[in-house]
Amino acid sequence: MNQTIETILNHRSIRKFKDEALTKEQIHTIVKAAQQASTSSNVMAYTIIGITDNALKEELYKVSGHSHVKNNAHLYMFCGDLHRIYQLANADEKVTIADNLESTEQFIVATIDATLAAQNAALAAESMGLGICYIGSLRNDINRVNELLELPEHVIPLFGLVVGYPDHQPDIKPRLPLEAIYHENKYSPFHEQQKHIEAYDNEMKQYYETRSSNTKIDTWSDQMLRKFSEPTRMDVTPFVKQKGFNKK
Ligand SMILES: Cc1cc2nc3c(=O)[nH]c(=O)nc-3n(C[C@H](O)[C@H](O)[C@H](O)COP(=O)(O)O)c2cc1C
Repeated sequence: MNQTIETILNHRSIRKFKDEALTKEQIHTIVKAAQQASTSSNVMAYTIIGITDNALKEELYKVSGHSHVKNNAHLYMFCGDLHRIYQLANADEKVTIADNLESTEQFIVATIDATLAAQNAALAAESMGLGICYIGSLRNDINRVNELLELPEHVIPLFGLVVGYPDHQPDIKPRLPLEAIYHENKYSPFHEQQKHIEAYDNEMKQYYETRSSNTKIDTWSDQMLRKFSEPTRMDVTPFVKQKGFNKK
Protein backbone atom coordinates (compact mmCIF):
# COMPACT_ATOMS: atom_id res chain seq x y z
CA MET A 1 0.00 0.00 0.00
CA ASN A 2 1.43 3.40 -0.88
CA GLN A 3 1.40 6.39 1.43
CA THR A 4 -1.47 8.16 -0.33
CA ILE A 5 -3.78 5.16 0.08
CA GLU A 6 -2.62 4.78 3.67
CA THR A 7 -3.54 8.41 4.38
CA ILE A 8 -6.94 7.95 2.74
CA LEU A 9 -7.74 4.74 4.64
CA ASN A 10 -6.58 6.26 7.92
CA HIS A 11 -9.23 9.00 7.75
CA ARG A 12 -11.39 9.79 10.73
CA SER A 13 -13.05 13.14 11.43
CA ILE A 14 -11.20 15.17 14.06
CA ARG A 15 -13.29 17.32 16.37
CA LYS A 16 -10.68 18.31 19.00
CA PHE A 17 -7.63 20.28 17.99
CA LYS A 18 -4.47 21.38 19.78
CA ASP A 19 -4.05 25.10 20.32
CA GLU A 20 -1.45 25.28 17.59
CA ALA A 21 -1.71 27.59 14.59
CA LEU A 22 -1.08 26.71 10.95
CA THR A 23 1.47 28.71 9.02
CA LYS A 24 0.33 30.83 6.09
CA GLU A 25 2.23 28.39 3.91
CA GLN A 26 0.22 25.43 5.25
CA ILE A 27 -3.05 27.32 4.76
CA HIS A 28 -2.11 28.18 1.18
CA THR A 29 -0.74 24.70 0.34
CA ILE A 30 -4.12 23.25 1.32
CA VAL A 31 -5.88 25.75 -0.97
CA LYS A 32 -3.45 25.02 -3.84
CA ALA A 33 -4.19 21.31 -3.44
CA ALA A 34 -7.92 22.09 -3.52
CA GLN A 35 -7.49 24.12 -6.68
CA GLN A 36 -5.69 21.31 -8.48
CA ALA A 37 -8.74 19.02 -8.26
CA SER A 38 -10.47 18.27 -11.53
CA THR A 39 -13.15 20.81 -12.34
CA SER A 40 -16.02 20.60 -14.85
CA SER A 41 -14.82 22.24 -18.13
CA ASN A 42 -12.31 24.18 -16.05
CA VAL A 43 -15.17 26.39 -14.81
CA MET A 44 -13.89 26.29 -11.20
CA ALA A 45 -17.39 27.02 -9.96
CA TYR A 46 -16.44 27.49 -6.32
CA THR A 47 -14.83 29.89 -3.89
CA ILE A 48 -13.07 29.06 -0.64
CA ILE A 49 -13.31 31.59 2.18
CA GLY A 50 -10.80 31.27 5.04
CA ILE A 51 -12.23 32.49 8.34
CA THR A 52 -9.51 34.31 10.26
CA ASP A 53 -11.73 36.70 12.24
CA ASN A 54 -12.56 35.17 15.66
CA ALA A 55 -15.77 37.18 16.04
CA LEU A 56 -16.97 35.77 12.71
CA LYS A 57 -15.93 32.25 13.77
CA GLU A 58 -18.00 32.71 16.92
CA GLU A 59 -21.04 33.64 14.83
CA LEU A 60 -20.52 30.63 12.57
CA TYR A 61 -20.16 28.43 15.65
CA LYS A 62 -23.55 29.70 16.85
CA VAL A 63 -25.10 28.55 13.56
CA SER A 64 -23.51 25.11 13.66
CA GLY A 65 -23.63 24.44 17.42
CA HIS A 66 -20.38 22.46 17.09
CA SER A 67 -17.50 23.65 19.27
CA HIS A 68 -14.91 22.52 16.70
CA VAL A 69 -16.19 25.33 14.43
CA LYS A 70 -14.54 27.85 16.76
CA ASN A 71 -11.80 25.65 18.25
CA ASN A 72 -9.58 24.83 15.30
CA ALA A 73 -6.46 26.10 13.58
CA HIS A 74 -8.32 27.11 10.42
CA LEU A 75 -11.84 27.12 9.04
CA TYR A 76 -12.37 27.04 5.30
CA MET A 77 -15.84 27.72 3.89
CA PHE A 78 -16.59 26.08 0.55
CA CYS A 79 -19.09 27.92 -1.63
CA GLY A 80 -20.65 27.06 -4.97
CA ASP A 81 -19.88 30.04 -7.20
CA LEU A 82 -21.32 30.99 -10.58
CA HIS A 83 -21.03 34.73 -9.83
CA ARG A 84 -17.58 34.96 -11.38
CA ILE A 85 -18.89 33.69 -14.73
CA TYR A 86 -21.97 35.91 -14.56
CA GLN A 87 -19.80 38.97 -13.98
CA LEU A 88 -17.80 38.23 -17.14
CA ALA A 89 -20.87 39.01 -19.27
CA ASN A 90 -21.70 42.52 -20.38
CA ALA A 91 -25.14 44.02 -19.67
CA ASP A 92 -26.71 42.62 -22.87
CA GLU A 93 -25.36 39.13 -22.34
CA LYS A 94 -26.28 38.96 -18.66
CA VAL A 95 -29.91 37.91 -19.25
CA THR A 96 -28.97 34.92 -21.42
CA ILE A 97 -26.02 34.00 -19.21
CA ALA A 98 -28.14 34.12 -16.05
CA ASP A 99 -30.79 31.97 -17.72
CA ASN A 100 -28.23 29.33 -18.57
CA LEU A 101 -26.35 29.55 -15.27
CA GLU A 102 -29.48 29.03 -13.22
CA SER A 103 -30.16 25.47 -14.39
CA THR A 104 -30.08 22.35 -12.24
CA GLU A 105 -27.10 21.18 -14.31
CA GLN A 106 -24.98 24.20 -13.31
CA PHE A 107 -26.06 23.82 -9.68
CA ILE A 108 -24.74 20.25 -9.82
CA VAL A 109 -21.53 21.44 -11.52
CA ALA A 110 -20.88 24.03 -8.78
CA THR A 111 -21.62 21.53 -6.01
CA ILE A 112 -19.38 18.86 -7.52
CA ASP A 113 -16.54 21.32 -8.21
CA ALA A 114 -16.61 22.65 -4.63
CA THR A 115 -16.75 19.15 -3.18
CA LEU A 116 -13.87 17.77 -5.25
CA ALA A 117 -11.78 20.77 -4.25
CA ALA A 118 -12.67 20.25 -0.60
CA GLN A 119 -11.75 16.59 -0.60
CA ASN A 120 -8.37 17.44 -2.16
CA ALA A 121 -7.93 20.01 0.62
CA ALA A 122 -8.90 17.42 3.23
CA LEU A 123 -6.42 14.88 1.90
CA ALA A 124 -3.66 17.46 1.59
CA ALA A 125 -4.23 18.44 5.23
CA GLU A 126 -4.29 14.82 6.40
CA SER A 127 -1.11 14.07 4.45
CA MET A 128 0.52 16.91 6.44
CA GLY A 129 -0.39 15.20 9.75
CA LEU A 130 -3.37 17.51 10.32
CA GLY A 131 -6.91 16.46 11.15
CA ILE A 132 -10.07 17.65 9.45
CA CYS A 133 -13.82 17.69 9.87
CA TYR A 134 -16.40 18.77 7.32
CA ILE A 135 -19.09 21.08 8.68
CA GLY A 136 -22.49 20.72 7.05
CA SER A 137 -24.23 22.05 10.16
CA LEU A 138 -23.46 25.55 8.92
CA ARG A 139 -26.53 24.98 6.74
CA ASN A 140 -28.58 24.97 9.99
CA ASP A 141 -29.09 28.62 9.08
CA ILE A 142 -27.92 29.04 5.52
CA ASN A 143 -29.36 32.54 5.25
CA ARG A 144 -27.34 33.68 8.27
CA VAL A 145 -24.09 32.23 6.84
CA ASN A 146 -24.87 33.89 3.52
CA GLU A 147 -25.29 37.21 5.34
CA LEU A 148 -22.19 36.78 7.52
CA LEU A 149 -19.97 36.03 4.53
CA GLU A 150 -21.59 38.72 2.36
CA LEU A 151 -22.09 36.30 -0.50
CA PRO A 152 -23.35 37.88 -3.73
CA GLU A 153 -25.99 36.45 -6.08
CA HIS A 154 -24.92 33.11 -7.62
CA VAL A 155 -22.76 32.19 -4.61
CA ILE A 156 -24.03 29.77 -1.95
CA PRO A 157 -22.33 28.41 1.18
CA LEU A 158 -22.13 24.60 0.94
CA PHE A 159 -20.08 23.43 3.94
CA GLY A 160 -17.09 24.23 6.10
CA LEU A 161 -13.86 22.32 6.61
CA VAL A 162 -12.07 22.68 9.94
CA VAL A 163 -8.38 21.83 10.09
CA GLY A 164 -5.81 21.60 12.85
CA TYR A 165 -3.43 19.42 14.83
CA PRO A 166 -5.45 16.48 16.24
CA ASP A 167 -5.91 16.41 20.01
CA HIS A 168 -7.64 13.02 20.02
CA GLN A 169 -7.45 9.84 17.99
CA PRO A 170 -10.99 8.53 17.39
CA ASP A 171 -11.43 4.98 16.11
CA ILE A 172 -11.77 4.67 12.35
CA LYS A 173 -15.48 4.39 11.48
CA PRO A 174 -16.27 1.32 9.38
CA ARG A 175 -17.99 1.80 6.04
CA LEU A 176 -20.63 -0.24 4.24
CA PRO A 177 -19.17 -3.39 2.69
CA LEU A 178 -17.74 -2.80 -0.77
CA GLU A 179 -20.45 -5.03 -2.31
CA ALA A 180 -23.21 -2.66 -1.17
CA ILE A 181 -21.53 0.37 -2.70
CA TYR A 182 -19.77 -1.05 -5.77
CA HIS A 183 -21.96 -2.73 -8.39
CA GLU A 184 -20.81 -3.94 -11.78
CA ASN A 185 -22.52 -3.20 -15.08
CA LYS A 186 -25.92 -2.53 -13.57
CA TYR A 187 -27.49 -1.52 -10.33
CA SER A 188 -27.69 -4.43 -7.90
CA PRO A 189 -31.24 -4.65 -6.58
CA PHE A 190 -31.74 -3.82 -2.94
CA HIS A 191 -32.36 -7.45 -1.92
CA GLU A 192 -28.80 -8.25 -3.08
CA GLN A 193 -27.42 -5.42 -0.95
CA GLN A 194 -29.50 -6.36 2.07
CA LYS A 195 -27.19 -8.99 3.57
CA HIS A 196 -24.28 -6.58 3.32
CA ILE A 197 -26.30 -3.91 5.09
CA GLU A 198 -27.18 -6.40 7.83
CA ALA A 199 -23.51 -7.29 8.22
CA TYR A 200 -22.71 -3.59 8.44
CA ASP A 201 -25.39 -3.02 11.07
CA ASN A 202 -23.77 -5.73 13.19
CA GLU A 203 -20.34 -4.23 12.67
CA MET A 204 -21.57 -0.73 13.55
CA LYS A 205 -23.39 -2.02 16.63
CA GLN A 206 -20.10 -3.50 17.80
CA TYR A 207 -18.19 -0.34 16.84
CA TYR A 208 -20.54 1.96 18.77
CA GLU A 209 -20.49 -0.32 21.83
CA THR A 210 -16.72 -0.62 22.00
CA ARG A 211 -15.25 2.59 20.58
CA SER A 212 -12.96 4.60 22.81
CA SER A 213 -15.43 7.46 23.45
CA ASN A 214 -19.13 8.29 23.14
CA THR A 215 -20.27 4.65 23.25
CA LYS A 216 -23.94 3.90 22.46
CA ILE A 217 -26.27 1.23 21.20
CA ASP A 218 -27.20 1.92 17.61
CA THR A 219 -27.04 0.57 14.07
CA TRP A 220 -26.60 2.31 10.73
CA SER A 221 -30.10 1.39 9.52
CA ASP A 222 -31.74 2.73 12.68
CA GLN A 223 -29.68 5.90 12.45
CA MET A 224 -30.67 6.49 8.83
CA LEU A 225 -34.36 5.87 9.45
CA ARG A 226 -34.34 8.27 12.41
CA LYS A 227 -32.43 10.87 10.40
CA PHE A 228 -34.79 10.78 7.44
CA SER A 229 -38.02 10.60 9.42
CA GLU A 230 -37.75 14.34 10.07
CA PRO A 231 -37.63 17.20 7.55
CA THR A 232 -34.18 18.79 7.53
CA ARG A 233 -33.23 22.35 6.60
CA MET A 234 -36.24 22.89 4.37
CA ASP A 235 -35.23 26.56 4.00
CA VAL A 236 -32.31 25.47 1.80
CA THR A 237 -34.56 24.93 -1.26
CA PRO A 238 -35.97 28.48 -1.43
CA PHE A 239 -32.57 29.93 -0.45
CA VAL A 240 -30.75 28.17 -3.29
CA LYS A 241 -33.35 29.30 -5.83
CA GLN A 242 -33.37 32.84 -4.52
CA LYS A 243 -29.59 32.96 -4.99
CA GLY A 244 -30.02 32.00 -8.66
CA PHE A 245 -29.22 28.27 -8.50
CA ASN A 246 -31.29 25.26 -9.59
CA LYS A 247 -34.14 27.44 -10.90
CA LYS A 248 -34.87 25.62 -14.15
C1 LIG B 1 -20.56 17.24 3.81
C2 LIG B 1 -20.29 16.77 5.21
C3 LIG B 1 -20.79 17.50 6.27
C4 LIG B 1 -20.49 17.12 7.58
N1 LIG B 1 -20.92 17.90 8.61
C5 LIG B 1 -20.50 17.65 9.86
C6 LIG B 1 -20.81 18.56 10.91
O1 LIG B 1 -21.50 19.56 10.74
N2 LIG B 1 -20.31 18.31 12.13
C7 LIG B 1 -19.53 17.22 12.39
O2 LIG B 1 -19.09 17.06 13.53
N3 LIG B 1 -19.24 16.32 11.42
C8 LIG B 1 -19.69 16.52 10.15
N4 LIG B 1 -19.36 15.67 9.14
C9 LIG B 1 -18.53 14.48 9.43
C10 LIG B 1 -19.34 13.19 9.29
O3 LIG B 1 -20.19 13.04 10.38
C11 LIG B 1 -18.32 12.02 9.21
O4 LIG B 1 -17.52 12.19 8.06
C12 LIG B 1 -19.02 10.67 9.14
O5 LIG B 1 -19.75 10.39 10.31
C13 LIG B 1 -17.99 9.55 8.95
O6 LIG B 1 -17.06 9.57 10.01
P1 LIG B 1 -15.49 9.77 9.74
O7 LIG B 1 -15.30 11.00 8.90
O8 LIG B 1 -14.87 9.90 11.09
O9 LIG B 1 -15.03 8.55 9.02
C14 LIG B 1 -19.70 15.98 7.83
C15 LIG B 1 -19.22 15.24 6.74
C16 LIG B 1 -19.51 15.63 5.45
C17 LIG B 1 -18.95 14.84 4.30
